[in-house]
Amino acid sequence: MDYVEKRVAQEAAKVASTTTEFLTPLNLILLGLFLWTTYTFLRPASPYLVPADPHATIFKVFTPRTLLPFNGENNQPVYLAVRGRVFDVSSGRSFYGPGGPYSNFAGRDASRGLACGSFDEEMLTKDLDGPLDKLADLTPDQLEALQGWEDKFTDKYLVVGKLVAVGDEKTVKRPSACGFA
Ligand code: HEM
Repeated sequence: MDYVEKRVAQEAAKVASTTTEFLTPLNLILLGLFLWTTYTFLRPASPYLVPADPHATIFKVFTPRTLLPFNGENNQPVYLAVRGRVFDVSSGRSFYGPGGPYSNFAGRDASRGLACGSFDEEMLTKDLDGPLDKLADLTPDQLEALQGWEDKFTDKYLVVGKLVAVGDEKTVKRPSACGFA
């Protein structure tokens, strides 16, 4: 009987010492981290955690004149157009915003300037109420360069509208989920 009690006491002491060994500060921290991570993954999504949309994207029709104010000045977003598509390039404000190296394109149809790699004034549509630049005289190389820029913008920025000539505003169809309907 003595032997049995001794063995039980020995086993109890073993368990107690194992528990004490386990309860080191490092293990407690790791356990806390494990429980917190598990809780974070498993807890139901809170409606209060939905991030606020900084500014809802509304598809709009622009003419060269109505696009002009979107040049980043007076806290406006920065838009530019490439072959009729208006991109919100506000996240590239350091490039296109006031004082940026490409600010000449802000609020403008940038197609010709990008195709020709030029910041010259004559690259931009002069008559804001006239027809859009059809780019009909561009060379294959210039068109390829323009396509490259367009692909970059499509990957990086949101399309927020379409650029049309004054008088053509009503002819624009609304975009569908897969482009223009
Ligand atoms: C001396 C000549 C030039 C230099 C050193 C230069 C330099 C740069 C640099 C460092 C970037 C940033 C690249 C990145 O991190 O994404 C950039 C972007 C860009 N450059 Fe230039 N560039 C030059 C000429 C031009 C010209 C001639 C044009 C067109 C007319 C142009 C249009 C752009 C555009 C549209 C971007 C993209 C900005 C964005 O991501 O939205 N650059 N350039």
